[in-house]
Amino acid sequence: MITEKIEALLQEVDSLSADSAEAIEALRIKYLSKKGILNDLMNDFRSVPAEQKREVGMKLNELKTKVQEKINLLKEQFEERSASDCSLDLTRTAYPVELGTRHPLTVVRNEIVDIFGRLGFNIAEGPEIEDDWHVFSSLNFATDHPARDMQDTFFIEAHPDIILRTHTSSVQSRVMERSTPPIRIICPGRVYRNEAISARAHCFFHQVEALYVDENVSFTDLKQVLLLFAQEMFGKDTKIRLRPSYFPFTEPSAEMDISCNICGGKGCSLCKHTGWVEILGCGMVDPNVLDANGIDSKKYTGYALGMGVERIANLKFQVKDLRLFSENDVRFLREFQPAL
Ligand code: DAH
Repeated sequence: MITEKIEALLQEVDSLSADSAEAIEALRIKYLSKKGILNDLMNDFRSVPAEQKREVGMKLNELKTKVQEKINLLKEQFEERSASDCSLDLTRTAYPVELGTRHPLTVVRNEIVDIFGRLGFNIAEGPEIEDDWHVFSSLNFATDHPARDMQDTFFIEAHPDIILRTHTSSVQSRVMERSTPPIRIICPGRVYRNEAISARAHCFFHQVEALYVDENVSFTDLKQVLLLFAQEMFGKDTKIRLRPSYFPFTEPSAEMDISCNICGGKGCSLCKHTGWVEILGCGMVDPNVLDANGIDSKKYTGYALGMGVERIANLKFQVKDLRLFSENDVRFLREFQPAL
C-alpha cells in the first residue's frame, strides 16, 4: 500500500514544475513541511511490518531526496531566469552608461578631411608649438612684413623664435621640406591667436589646410576642387565666387564665398543680405615658398587653401557664440547627438 504510494509520488515528482517563488514554496510546503506528504508517509511508515521496513525505508529516503533535489533545481532555474531578465541583471552597473557623442567640430573636421580624402589628399600633421621659420619665414613672410601683424601671435618671452602656430599653413612647409612632388595633403589642426575671447573670436580655434604640388597644377584645378568641396559640404545647389585677395604665401590669392546656405542667396541676416558668405582663403603657391622649402619652382606649381573649422561649423549649425565650442557644456554637445 505504502510502497505503491511512494512509487506514484516518485513519478509525480519528475513532472513537478513551478514558475514563481510562491509556487516553489507551495510545493515545499506540500511535500516537506510538518503537515506535508512526506511527514504523513513517515507516520504511515511506523505501521509497516518489520520485515518490510528496510525496503520501504530506502524507498522513502529516495523519495525525500528526490523531492528536495527537485525543489532545489526549480529554485535554481527560477533564479537563473530572473537574472537573465534584463530588469534584474545583477551584473549591471548601478547607473545607465551614457553614450558620448562626437564634438561638432570633430564632425565637421572629419567631413572636410573625408571630402578631400576622396580626391586623394592624405592627412598631414605638424606641431602646435612651432618656430618662426615654419609659420612665417618659409611661407614668404619677410621679417618686417606687415602681414605678420595680421595674425596676433603668441610668443614665448625667453625664446622669441618659438611660437604657437597661428595657422596650419606651417604644415605645408613641414611637408614640402621633406617630400618631393606630387604632394597632396590635408592638414587639420588647432591654431592659436592672441585675441580677446568673445562670441566672435577665440584665442584658439581650428583650421584645415590643403596643399597640392605637382607639375602643371593650375588655378583651374583649384577652382574645380573648390566647387566640388563646397557642393559636397553645403549641398549640390551651392555656388562659389572667388574674390581677389592677398596672402604672402600664394600668388595670385583669393577668398572664396559660397552662396548663403541659409537663404539660398536671396539675402538674410547671416549673409548680411549679400547672398554670399566667406568660407576660405586660397591661391597658387608662391614660387618663393616652393623654393624656400626645397621644391624647384621652375618645374612644379601648386595650389593651397585654408579654412576655419569653426566657421564651417557655424554655417552648418548656426552656432551664434564661438565660446560654446570649447566650453564642453553637455547641453550644447547633446544637440549634436546622432540618431541611434
Ligand atoms: N593661413 C591662412 C589664415 O590663417 C588661410 C589660408 C589662406 C591658407 C590662403 C592657405 C591659403 O593655404 O592659400 O588665414
